[in-house]
Formats: sequence, structure tokens, C-alpha cells
Amino acid sequence: MLTRAWIRWLLTHGLLRTYLRWAARRGDPLGQIAVGQDRLLGSSPYIEEIRRRGRIPSMSGVHVTADYELCRLILRDRRFGVVTPFHPALPKPIRRALDKTDLGLPNLGEPPSMLVTDPPDHTRYRRLVRHAFGPKAIAALEGRVTEATNDLLDRLESKPRPDLIEDFSAQLPVTVIAEILGLPADMHPTLLKWGDTGAPLLERGLSWTTYRHAIEDLVEVKQYFDHYLDELAAEPNNDVLSMLATDGETTRREQVANAALLLDAGFLTTVNMLGNGIVLLTGHPDQLESLIAQPDLWPNAVEEILRYDGPVRMTGRVANCDVDIAGERIESGSLVLLSLAGANNDPAVFPDPHQFDVTRDNATEHLAFSSGIHGCLGARLARLEGAVALRTLFERYPNLSLDGPPVPHPLRNLHAYRSMPAKLLAG
Ligand code: HEM
Repeated sequence: MLTRAWIRWLLTHGLLRTYLRWAARRGDPLGQIAVGQDRLLGSSPYIEEIRRRGRIPSMSGVHVTADYELCRLILRDRRFGVVTPFHPALPKPIRRALDKTDLGLPNLGEPPSMLVTDPPDHTRYRRLVRHAFGPKAIAALEGRVTEATNDLLDRLESKPRPDLIEDFSAQLPVTVIAEILGLPADMHPTLLKWGDTGAPLLERGLSWTTYRHAIEDLVEVKQYFDHYLDELAAEPNNDVLSMLATDGETTRREQVANAALLLDAGFLTTVNMLGNGIVLLTGHPDQLESLIAQPDLWPNAVEEILRYDGPVRMTGRVANCDVDIAGERIESGSLVLLSLAGANNDPAVFPDPHQFDVTRDNATEHLAFSSGIHGCLGARLARLEGAVALRTLFERYPNLSLDGPPVPHPLRNLHAYRSMPAKLLAG
């Protein structure tokens, strides 16, 4: 299995990694973003450089845009499909090698994960699970999210130097998604570990070591969900994974891939929204004061956090036919990278975009959850968790301060923190 995994790594990550490093050394802004030299926000010089080159310039052989209108348009345009390692234009020997090295594991960045599957399969998967994340289902969770937040904050009090990522921001989303999926609380540490090793698979150009660790854990994820979905198929209840497990039209592989996606997507990014929000609010005491005085502003503050510093910086699409857009021809099969961070800082839509303003009246228009048919399925849940968790944290500890600079997360496409020591001073 290790040899097959290595060949697959080489084809899906290794060769691209070498190319991106070469492009970065040549000073190519896109290469620099891809290899992680750019760790700044959407206001970073690299994104400004993309803007200077045009609305949708071609760089390193791909089109890239930080233009809000074009990002939104492309995300909603059915002539574009998702990016997978299995491009139809790949030479036959490479496609054959990819088929032969298929590990059959629930890799988030490969089909049949719905995130990287086009219709009609995408429509089928999404229809099966969407009810669990609709307005009624999420509104019904508010009490439980509040209770889980308070439990975590109670536990923080006994810690002399709590870490607001490990002890708080990471715990709430995993607790909530595990309950939605019916997974037991004693699995939380394992689920967090699986998330940690699996998240890099959403990026391209991984090192062999990172890829191997992810694959090793995916073997466990597959075994766990295979077994759990068997149990649910035999004795279904009303939850979302029972719907998946008992659907006659989806294969077990499709079910496991999308169960694993729901789990990981359910906490991997929400933790970062909370972490980024804590950094922004402790760094902008005037904004925090407005929120303490006017708690109705919390939902809008969450939107502004997502706009100003959303966790997912970039996504991509492939043109399924020749498309003319903003005076450029995007040829069939071409890759277009969409800078969500850049779109959310586009001055044409968000006046004074580098100002963090919890009262901004169009903050909800951000693209932090993407848009179109792949727009985040869990956006409602994330918004609820953000408003409840941040409000409860800061109402209980209005004088909370960070104890030293937070440690950035090493993933390139996530703007996030891995650890955030803090001092809790009750108000
Ligand atoms: C602040 C938290 C979150 C952020 C910033 C976020 C962001 C995103 C983005 C940007 C996409 C689309 C990527 C693309 O278009 O290529 C996406 C898709 C998705 N998200 Fe989220 N997400 C968050 C929370 C959640 C939660 C709590 C869930 C719960 C299960 C979730 C489930 C999903 C799923 C299943 C998809 C794939 C949808 C599809 O392909 O149809 N997300 N998310």
C-alpha cells in the first residue's frame, strides 16, 4: 500500500510541489502564496499584486482573481466545475496510474467527497444530507450550543493558562458536529486527531510525510465509518448518517466519503473562525465595547470576522468549455483560482475594506462560505456557533487578553492559529 500511496502522492502532490517551489523562487506571486510565503490577510502585498495585474490575470499558467464580482460569478457559473486531481485532459498513462493507485480511502480532496464532485452526483449527495443543516434543524440546536459553550468555559476556569484554541475553539465545533452525526463524546480526541492529519488533503503540493500521515489515519477513518454505517443501516434512527447509510442509490464508498467530509468540514474551519474572531476582538477593544453594549450586533460581528479574516483563503474551479470573462478567454480545461480573501477585501464592494467594523452594513455579502452549488452546507451552523461562542466568552470575560502572540497554523490555505494562550480576567 505504501508504494501505491507514494506514486499517488507524486502524481497528485509531488510534481506540483516541485513546480510551485520553482515558480515561487522566480518571484511568481501565485507560487509564493502556494508555498506559504504569504501568511498575511487578504490585504497582503501578493493579493494586491494580483489585483494590479488585472481582474483575472494569468499567472504560472493559471487564471487567478481577487475580484469579488468575478469570484462570485465563477462560483455560480455551471460552465465551471470543481478541481480534482483527475483532470480529463491528463495524458492516458497518468490517468491509468491514478486509477491503479486508487486507495479507496475517504480523502476530502478527492471524489466522491461532495466538495470535489460535480452534478449530477453532487446533487444526489447534497440532497441526502442537507436537511440536517437547514434553518429549522439549526435553530433547534441553539440551546445545546449555548450549554456546550458554558460547559467548556466552566472547565477553562480551572486552567492557569488556558489555550483558547485547544481548550475552547476546537472543542465546541467537534462537540456539536459529533452530536449531529451521533458519534460518542469519548471519540472527540480521535476525531480531532483525524481532522488534524486529514485537513492538509484539501491543499495541493503536500510533502510526502504530511500525505503519508493523512493516508495512515484515513485507513482508520474508513474502518470506523464502514462499521458505524453498517450498524446504522441495520438499525437506522432519524439522524443524517442513517439517511446516508440507508440510501439505496449511493454506494458504501460514497457514504463513507461524505460522512467523513461532514465530520471534518463540521469542525476544521469553525475552530478557525472562533480563533480569528478572538484575535480580532481582543485587538479592537472599541469594537468589543460596541458588542458588549449592543449584543444584537453579535451576528453581524461574526459576518465581519468572516469577511475580514475568513479561514478559507482560496478555492478553485476548472472551465468545462471555453468561457469569455472580463475580456479574457478562459480555455476549456483551464484552472481558475479564486481568492476568497481577496474578494472579501475588494474595495469595490466593501468600502474601507481593511477596517474591521462590526456594524458594517453589507458584511453578510462576504464569500467566506463560497457561493453557488458548493456554497458551505454548514454556514448556518457555523454562524450560530460563532455568535453563541464569542458572545458567551466575551460576556463572561470582557477583560480577556492574549498571553503572548498566538501561534499560526501551518496550513497554507487556512488563515488560522494552532494555539492561543490567554489570561482570563472576569469583568
Ligand atoms: C466558519 C466555518 C466554515 C467556513 C469558513 C466554511 C467554508 C466553506 C467553503 C469556502 C466551502 C466551499 C468551498 C468551495 O466552494 O470550493 C465549504 C463547503 C462545505 N462546507 Fe463549510 N465552512 C465552515 C463550516 C462548516 C460546517 C460547520 C459544516 C458542517 C458540516 C460545513 C460543511 C461543508 C460541506 C459539507 C461543504 C461542501 C458543500 C458542497 O460541496 O456542496 N462547513 N465550506
